[in-house]
Amino acid sequence: MTRIIQITDLHVLQEADARLKGVPVRYFLERVIDHISEHQPDCDAMVITGDHTHDELETSYRYLHQLLTPWRDRLYQVPGNHDDRDVLRTVFADCLQPNEHGFIEFSFAADGWHCLGLDTHHPGEVSGMLTEAQIRRARCTAEESGQPRIAVFCHHPPVPMQSVWMDSIGLSGAEFLADWCHSDPRVQLVCCGHVHHESEHRVGEASVLTTPSTGVQFSPEGDVPNFVADYPGYRVIELTPAGASTRVCRISELSIPEG
Ligand SMILES: [Fe+2]
Repeated sequence: MTRIIQITDLHVLQEADARLKGVPVRYFLERVIDHISEHQPDCDAMVITGDHTHDELETSYRYLHQLLTPWRDRLYQVPGNHDDRDVLRTVFADCLQPNEHGFIEFSFAADGWHCLGLDTHHPGEVSGMLTEAQIRRARCTAEESGQPRIAVFCHHPPVPMQSVWMDSIGLSGAEFLADWCHSDPRVQLVCCGHVHHESEHRVGEASVLTTPSTGVQFSPEGDVPNFVADYPGYRVIELTPAGASTRVCRISELSIPEG
C-alpha cells in the first residue's frame, strides 16, 4: 500500500503573522503539518496541488521549503494560479523533476498505480489552462509505466463545481482530461485543489476530488467569492493494486475566525 498526503492552497505570506481573510495562514499550515507528522509519519509521498504562496515571493517559498524539510525526499508539486513557476523552480530545485516543456509536473509509480501531476498554471490568470499536448504526453508516460491504474493531481478541477463564482475561474482545456477519463478506465482518481473545499464528482471511471485548503476555506454558494469559517485540512490517499481509498482530515482543535 502506498499512502499519499495531499495538501493544497497553502497561500503562505511573507510576514510570519500575516492573515488572509482573518486566517493566520502560516500558523494554520504549521498545525496541519504537525497533524500529518503525528498521524501520518510513515506516509510515502506528499503532494502539493498548488497555490504554495499567496504573494508569490521568494521569502514565502523559502519558508515553505524549510517547513517541509522532513518531506523533501518524497515531495511532489504542481503550481496553482497563486504560484510563480520561476521562483518555485529556484527554491525547490532539489525536489522538482526536470521538464523540457517548461511545466512543473511529476510522475511516480505506486503499488500498481501511475501517479502524475499536471501543471494547469496560466500566467496572469486565476483560471487554469491545460493543453492537448500535456494530456498526450501524460498518456504516453502512463502507457510506458505499464501500471494498471492512474491517479492524476492538478490544481484546477476539470469539472464544474455547480458554483457561479468557482466555475468562472475554472479550467480551460478541461475537456482534454475529461476525454482521457472517459476513454481510459485506468484513470480512476483525479485530486485537485483551487476551490478550497471538499467535493467529489465523477468523470468516466475517475473520482474527481477536491480538498480543503490548509488555511482559508470557501463555500461554492453565492455569486461572488464566499469565504467561510471552517477547519483547515488535508487528504490521505491510500493506493493498493486493488484500488484507492481516500479521506479528508480536518484540524478541528483550532479556533477559526468567522468567515
Ligand atoms: Fe487557492
